[in-house]
Amino acid sequence: MQVITRIAELRERLGQNGSQGKPTSATHAQQTVAFVPTMGNLHAGHISLIQQARPLATTVVASIFVNRLQFAPNEDFDRYPRTFDADCEGLKAAGADVLFFPEERELYPEPQGFVVQPPAIGQMLEERFRPGFFRGVSTVVLKLFNLVQPQIAIFGKKDYQQLRVIEALVRQLALPIQIIAAETGRDHDGLALSSRNGYLSPAERAEAPRLYQTLQAMQQRIRGGERNFLALENDAIELLRSHGWRPDYISLRHRQTLQPASADASEGVIVAAARLGTTRLIDNIEV
Ligand code: PAF
Repeated sequence: MQVITRIAELRERLGQNGSQGKPTSATHAQQTVAFVPTMGNLHAGHISLIQQARPLATTVVASIFVNRLQFAPNEDFDRYPRTFDADCEGLKAAGADVLFFPEERELYPEPQGFVVQPPAIGQMLEERFRPGFFRGVSTVVLKLFNLVQPQIAIFGKKDYQQLRVIEALVRQLALPIQIIAAETGRDHDGLALSSRNGYLSPAERAEAPRLYQTLQAMQQRIRGGERNFLALENDAIELLRSHGWRPDYISLRHRQTLQPASADASEGVIVAAARLGTTRLIDNIEV
């Protein structure tokens, strides 16, 4: 696996060096690039995205970049775990060909004045609790897409709203990229894999699976015919509160639009975000 820190070198490696769109060599003629953007501190969920990309492309590119633009001033940008050596090992073993690992001044050599303003799908749920988050995500992802120019990009369903925002970005800006949605990786007890799980104390880690269990119980009640979604959401919020959580939202939405679900809950997804101690966890379940 080649680790590349400079944009010029990345473009050279991917055959984008001023050939006016034509392949620069026979090697590049058939090249399909699959891209997995990350912020590092990789876990088995990330690794499975690389493994899913591997058979789909001649070149699998991963990126590691902790994107300051998507962190609010009170969030964990400074303490976000940086585990480069372990990440490299994992990416190499999973079959990545290229790791793009730019420094901040390489990606943002000047203040990023041009930004991507997300549409309605990026202005609800997470955005209400993390103002500017999807603007930061959309801006860096568009920039990375522009640098890597992949035909395929893979995003996990764990960040369900992020996935839908990126799909809208690709659709509305007519980017020639196929977005593949990957299932959420889970620990043995159901907890969704996340870099932020590392912040949990042992007691919090033992409590954390309750979030997914609560979503599963809601799913069962909907499948059993429950149609009072508001009561269902409120029950779930109260249950988590009684176990020391501070829920931001638990909401049944339409899978594509993320608008409140229709009366029959068809094409539904329950999305949730809740704080346990100082750690904010998100999860979801399709209904
Ligand atoms: O999901 C993430 O890790 C980040 O939001 C992403 C997509 C890499 C953009 O910084």
